[in-house]
Parts: sequence; structure tokens; C-alpha cells
Amino acid sequence: MATLNDEIRRRRTFAIISHPDAGKTTLTEKLLLFGGAIHIAGAVKSNKIKKTATSDWMDIEKQRGISVATSVMGFDYGDYKINILDTPGHQDFAEDTYRTLTAVDSVIIVVDVAKGVEQQTRRLMEVCRMRNTPVIIFVNKLDREGRDPFEILDELEAELKIGVRPLSWPINIGAKFKGVYNIYEHSLDLFTPNKQRVSERVEIDDVNDPRVDEAVGEVDAAKLRDDLELIEGVYPEFDKEQYLQGKLAPVFFGSALNTFGVKELLDCFVEIAPSPKPVQAEEREIRPEEDAFSGFVFKIHANMDPNHRSCIAFVKICSGKFERNVGYKHIRSGKVMKFAAPTAFMAQKKSIVDEAYPGDIVGIPDTGNFKIGDTLTSGEEIHFKGLPSFSPEMFKYIENTDPMKSKQLEKGIQQLMDEGVAQLFINQFNGRKLIGTVGQLQFEVIQYRLLHEYGAQCRWEPISLYKACWIESDDAEALAAFKKRKHQFMAVDREGRDVFLADSSYVLTMAQQDFPAIRFHFSSEF
Ligand code: G4P
Repeated sequence: MATLNDEIRRRRTFAIISHPDAGKTTLTEKLLLFGGAIHIAGAVKSNKIKKTATSDWMDIEKQRGISVATSVMGFDYGDYKINILDTPGHQDFAEDTYRTLTAVDSVIIVVDVAKGVEQQTRRLMEVCRMRNTPVIIFVNKLDREGRDPFEILDELEAELKIGVRPLSWPINIGAKFKGVYNIYEHSLDLFTPNKQRVSERVEIDDVNDPRVDEAVGEVDAAKLRDDLELIEGVYPEFDKEQYLQGKLAPVFFGSALNTFGVKELLDCFVEIAPSPKPVQAEEREIRPEEDAFSGFVFKIHANMDPNHRSCIAFVKICSGKFERNVGYKHIRSGKVMKFAAPTAFMAQKKSIVDEAYPGDIVGIPDTGNFKIGDTLTSGEEIHFKGLPSFSPEMFKYIENTDPMKSKQLEKGIQQLMDEGVAQLFINQFNGRKLIGTVGQLQFEVIQYRLLHEYGAQCRWEPISLYKACWIESDDAEALAAFKKRKHQFMAVDREGRDVFLADSSYVLTMAQQDFPAIRFHFSSEF
């Protein structure tokens, strides 16, 4: 019988991240295809939000609603149990992605060979870097014209601020693309465009094997050998330890749409990617192999049906075995709760599970007990470190327009904030509530949901702010002086922490210069 340790060791929990359109959905689908979780391509209804000009947020929420089941996709691949955590493609939901990244043990980044590193990839990489998350990079769309692979490698290194090491190498690109040489396994895969099948593999001993010349022609074979020589000269040997520490990213090349280079990626991934790691709680480090169960809520998915105000809380298991109908302590409330219908996510189906292990995600139907960041344990008082909030990009004052419904509005705002839809700050100068988001869409989502789920009406009042940053200082006097000077721009977050509302980058820079004793933080985890 498999022990807890065996279960932990075989688990790989990760997310695929990319700038929209680089190929995340396509790659996810192909990984599921290899895992036997789906049988034909085109079957994944992903979190992908179609970017049509007319799509308003209701469409988007409908699409998101469909995607509960694909929020987590679990499947077995050989001896491994793989959990892919999906992240929304739309950048207005970037905050969801940040939180999902706290629940994974590694990530795969997809980059479009023609576009290189794009804005969202850069931002998501910053989150990975904060947590030293191991990263593998897949350079996609080699069947299309694109940039020189060496140039892409330089850009990845410079823009993502991480060391890179190619583990596969393309032979030409675009119309002349012939295949990839797998540096990791010393094998050659020849490219035949096909959306459903795997490519042809040529058995060779190494790159000097004459069969390489036969397969791709002498000119391209010579170029491949030159390229590889250059790679060996420039890049140090692949060092797995460095990868696990988040300092070095192995790079693969391929075409997700053509199922090309994907299996190589997957085979290497399961071998080198980490199984669930210890998690630092406020009290102590929690090791996955501990017998006692612990986990935390990293995402809450609301049901958009106003008649059933229920949601699903996604719990990442950090240690021990989770069992159905066993009492677990909800640390924030102190209540012991039993879950009769926890769901696991296998392939694209949700089903009730009796047990789950570290690295797994269980979905718990909830009616408002949970808040993002909540901890569940077998009894021990553990608090997993709060998931970071990042300084929002957009701010608006929220105003009640129906004085008879102020209670409903208050409750609605609190619950939506618990779900992590946006961040709430209270301006200390005028006492007004300020909502911060990463995209315009959330304001529409909030307004709609307040009305339909809570019967409360609100309107938005614009405020021009550059950033909200958390401030702290070891020097109480300096802190008090700062707060006094900036009293019109001071707010508190929901935990009562001091937040400075900077209305321009100039003001922020000046504040940083004038008050050297104050530390300014752009994420709440400091
Ligand atoms: P995303 O989730 O990262 O946003 O990207 P997605 O997989 O949806 O891919 C974006 C577009 O790029 C899709 O085309 C997809 O078919 C295409 N694509 C993905 N991988 C490759 C590849 O290896 N080569 C080529 N040539 N194209 C690729 P679309 O027309 O926007 O959507 P669809 O109608 O094909 O679904």
C-alpha cells in the first residue's frame, strides 16, 4: 500500500502561466492528452476568456462559471499524479493568478517565439521570484516565423531575471522548421504538423550520429552541431539544484498546437519538478509528510446563480491526509467543521473524494464561512502566512445609493473582499471606502454582484491614484510624523495596516526621499 510519503513524492502541482495568446490553453490541453485525461484535442473548456469586442463581464463570468471544473486538472501520468492549476487569461483577473501561484510548487511559462517576453509574463515572473518558485520555460509556436532562439534566450534571461539553460534546441523555425534536438535525452524529434498525434522520433546516439544528417539534411545538421557547441560553451551544465531554488530555468522549444516538443517537456518536468515542499507558517515550518492534516484556502469561486449564494473554497493540502467527514479546525473562527462533499478534480470532472494528499486541491462547498488565506488543520493552531496582496492599479470610492440598504451593502462588500474580488481601504482622512482592483472589469463585477446577490446599490466615484503602498517603520516618531504630514493620503487596509495613497510616482519618490526611516511596500507580504 502506498504510504503518505509515496503519495507526496509522486505529486506535481503546478500552474502554466503566459501572456494571453502565447498558447497556455493549447499546452494545457496537450498535457491532458498525454495524461489520457482527454482523448481528442479541442476538448478543454478552459478559463480562457474570449476577447471579443462585445464581451462584457457577464459573458466573462459565464465563461468563468463553466470553468470551475477546469480550475484544477488532475491526472495520472506514469507513476506521477499531476495537478495543473489553471489561471485566468484575462489580465483584469491577474490577482487570481497571483494567489494561485501561492498554491503551486512550480510553474511552466509559455512564451511565443515571435513575441518573446510580454508584459504579463514579466509580472507573473516577479511573483514567482518572490517565492523562489522553480520555473520551466516553453518557447511555443516554432512552426511560425519568429525570432532567433539565441536572441530569445538572451531576452528571457534579461527580462525574467533568471538564468536559462536550453534543454532542447530547434532545427530552423517557421516554414523551414524541421524538429528539435533533445539535449536532455540526446534524441531527435522530427516535426510533422499534426494536431492530434505525437511527432516522429529518430533514434540516434548523439548529435554526431550520421542519422541526423539523413533526417534533416547536411546543412541543417551542421548548423545544429554548431549551435549545440555554442550552447555548451556559453551555458553551464544544467544544474537541477539551481532549478529547484528558482535560479535557473530550463528552456524547451516546440509547438503546442502541433503537439510537438510537449512530451519532452512533460517527461522532463515530472522528473525534475519538485513534489510538495514544506510550507512556512507563522508558528513553524509545516512538512508535507507530517501525519496531521493542514491546508489553506487560496481561491474562492462564487456561484453566479443568485438563487444559490454558494461558492467553492479551494483548499491546498500542505500536510497529512485530508479525509471526508472528519472534523477539521477552521483556525480563524475556532470552529470544527466536517466536510461531507469535498470534491477532487480529476481530468475535467469534479467528483466527491474520500481522501486527498499534500499537493492536491480539494474543493469545499461553502456558504460564506471561508475567506482567502484561511487555514484548516487537524487541531493545531497554525496560521499559514497571509497570501500577498499587491498594490492595486485602479481605485474608486464606493458610494451607497440606497440608504435603506446600507447593511446589505456593507455585508456584500465584506463578503466580496473575503472572496478576494478586490481590496478595500478606508481613507483615514474622510472615512470613505476605497476599492482597489487590477482591472476595470472588477468594478463592474462588484456593482453587479452587490445588486444581484445582496440587493444593494452603489455607484463609483473616480479618484486618481498612482499606487497604494503599505508603510512601516522601526521609528515610531518618524512614522507618526509621516502620517501627520500625509494625513489626507493615509488609509488602512482590512487588517488595519497603514497604507499610503500616492497620487503620482513623483509624490511617491519624494516621500521615499524625504522619509528615509519609512519602508514602502508594494505587496502586503513583508
Ligand atoms: P492562451 O491560452 O495563452 O491565451 O493561448 P491559446 O492556447 O488559446 O493560443 C492562442 C492562439 O495561438 C490560438 O489560436 C492557438 O491555436 C494558437 N497556437 C497555440 N499554439 C500554437 C502553435 O504551436 N503554433 C501555432 N501556429 N499556433 C498556436 P486562435 O486562432 O487565437 O484560437 P483558436 O481559434 O485556434 O482556438
